[in-house]
Amino acid sequence: MPNAKIAGIGFYVPEQVVTNFDLMKVMDTSDEWIRERSGIIERRYGKKHEETPTTMAAEAAKVAIERAGISKEDIDFIIFATLSPDYYFPGCGVLLQRELGITKTEIGALDIRNQCSGFIYGLSVADQFIKSGMYKNILLIGSEMHSMGLDFSTRGRAITALFGDGAGAVVLQPSEDENKGVLTTHLHSDGTHAEELAMLSPGSHGGKHLPDVDFGFPPADELGEIFVYDNLLENKSYYPQMDGQLVFKKAVTKFPEVIMEALTKTGYTPADIDMLVPHQANLRIAQFVQKTLQLPDDKVFNNIMKYGNTTAASIPIALCEAWEQGKVKEGDLVCLAAFGSGFTWGSALIRW
Ligand code: UT7
Repeated sequence: MPNAKIAGIGFYVPEQVVTNFDLMKVMDTSDEWIRERSGIIERRYGKKHEETPTTMAAEAAKVAIERAGISKEDIDFIIFATLSPDYYFPGCGVLLQRELGITKTEIGALDIRNQCSGFIYGLSVADQFIKSGMYKNILLIGSEMHSMGLDFSTRGRAITALFGDGAGAVVLQPSEDENKGVLTTHLHSDGTHAEELAMLSPGSHGGKHLPDVDFGFPPADELGEIFVYDNLLENKSYYPQMDGQLVFKKAVTKFPEVIMEALTKTGYTPADIDMLVPHQANLRIAQFVQKTLQLPDDKVFNNIMKYGNTTAASIPIALCEAWEQGKVKEGDLVCLAAFGSGFTWGSALIRW
């Protein structure tokens, strides 16, 4: 059974740079606080009403497709991971198909809603499809446009300061060499803390506030009123919410655990890792993981300083930058790991 290998990789970040000092103009925060707690210096924001997760994904995808040496018509499956989709539905997979001008309908498009670990979940799904022989050229995307959905008042500062926009893409193909490509993937979830890092609205959970009426549902306009009132206006539940300290504590345990799981499964140790590309959630989390696994500085790639946390896009953006800078080379053992909302977490080991 062939493994999936990364045949092409690309990323796109919007032009507009937003520094910590820029955020200080709209909320009570400081460059010092953001840098010290997260390592972030600046992030990118897409052009409002022009750029979307889909348009950014298309830019990243074009690069990945070209580097894979194929044409867009060769893509036989799209997997799109995002928590900030263009629409509530349909998902970004079909929007990207249209944006790229892929007119053939023999392909499928799948949307992944696993937030920070979306790329690893997508990679695992793609690997299974390739192992089974079902698809030969899978386009896997992580793309986020957080800037359209953040609370820019002081109330939202603990979250807003962390997030940025961007997209990363890979083309996955069967590897001719069974010792190359995706060697193993490990996925986990624990719904106990689902609301501790979440955006609750729009969502059907508003239904639990409906009055008890004999005919089942109230008239549609009443339903809409309750839905809007309860969820959107009063609670501001259309903004993300997070228990940062809980997420931090869980992340620093789960990252090393899931990395060790992948290493143990394949008979490797942390010393065998040539490059660890962790989800870029917080530089302090990445440093904690590095210390736990006793990895030297040149074996962990971080770029959160420039882009903030781009959720599903952070791993492919970082992996692409590492590769472009020659820090990921042919034959290297590359480890990817993520933890985030859900909670969901996962890891992948790739022989490049
Ligand atoms: O992608 C995965 C998802 N996210 C994560 O992995 C995030 C994990 N958590 C974290 O990275 C950290 O918890 C944060 C960076 C979010 C926060 O750092 P912290 O050291 O846990 O700070 P805190 O939430 O305990 O807040 C400390 C203080 C509070 O003020 P008081 O109550 O001590 O007066 C906050 O109100 O810092 C305040 N604060 C801010 N101050 C200035 C929160 N956000 C800001 C801000 N600027 N942006």
